[in-house]
Amino acid sequence: LKQAAEVRTAAGACPIYIEPGSLAQVERLLSEHDVGRTVLVVGDSSVAEPWVESVAGTLRRSFEVEVALAGPGEAAKSWAGAEPLFDRLVEMRAERRDTVVAVGGGVVGDLAGFVAAIYLRGINLVQVPTSLLAMADAAIGGKTAINHPRGKNLIGAFHQPLFVLEDPEVLATMPERAFREGWAEVIKHGLIADLALLAFLEDHVAELQTRDVESLTRTLIASARVKAEIVSGDEREEGRRMWLNYGHTVGHAVEAASGYEAYLHGEADSVGMIAAAVIAESLGLLDGVAVRRHADVLSAYQLPLTVDGLTKNEICEAMTHDKKRRDGRQNWVLLDGLANPVIRADVGDDSIKRALLEVGIA
Ligand code: GLY
Repeated sequence: LKQAAEVRTAAGACPIYIEPGSLAQVERLLSEHDVGRTVLVVGDSSVAEPWVESVAGTLRRSFEVEVALAGPGEAAKSWAGAEPLFDRLVEMRAERRDTVVAVGGGVVGDLAGFVAAIYLRGINLVQVPTSLLAMADAAIGGKTAINHPRGKNLIGAFHQPLFVLEDPEVLATMPERAFREGWAEVIKHGLIADLALLAFLEDHVAELQTRDVESLTRTLIASARVKAEIVSGDEREEGRRMWLNYGHTVGHAVEAASGYEAYLHGEADSVGMIAAAVIAESLGLLDGVAVRRHADVLSAYQLPLTVDGLTKNEICEAMTHDKKRRDGRQNWVLLDGLANPVIRADVGDDSIKRALLEVGIA
């Protein structure tokens, strides 16, 4: 199995493997590490996926494996959702060198990762993402978290996995809307850092939407490289990792103001990227062609460009809870030309108002 990308941090290197059929290799990859014999596989109870059992079955060749299911949905990312996983680890007498393997979408990865980060002050973690969103984003970079009732991902830890294993074949059975939202993060990586990836996305819409495995693999590798490179320079998000939040200022506010129900994360980010592009245009950073390119590629992947039923006041209130604020000031990730992110704290109310209007928020 060839390494597709690598996240380098003070904790060491985290390889990312992306290859069709690679799920079967998880036992061999884990055995290459100096780990204990006990493994807790955490899967998603809300998705009827064969992958959890297949990963657990493969691992049983060399490890003592138990399976725990989490979910359903975002509500699982809570203390109540974490407790049964801690109970299982205690019952299994899991030790520091033992391993949690997360098999699922972003919710499972964040929750299982958080449990692995704090149980015994940190045990081994392997991420096996099975959704496009988790493959493109959540599983890479070592962010783990649960939610607080007042905000998403407010309680968490940085905890890099031993490795990330992505098998593009598992995407074949993903439900359509959940599959579609993942494109927002892949497109984001193209827009902020990789014009060749952006062009590939623009030129291969049909193949990618019909989940052609070769095109998916190529895209996932390029996308993972963008994320891994950015995180490697700034694990703790003191600088350039903030670029990965392109579109998230308005995106998170849309999710929060709509109660995390009407819009999936990727859908909200799609709208947020349009807002960010319009703001960049009003500051003279992007031209109309670049803004149109945002809209064209996002709509080609059937992502929304506008939202319904949200007011400017609701969005502005939700934006004040943004984790990226510094000293009470909103930091915006904007593009000063495509693939050239900048952080700006000097965005005026008029620009924000105009951008929100553009995405249907008055
Ligand atoms: N999802 C953004 C990051 O990992 O930093």
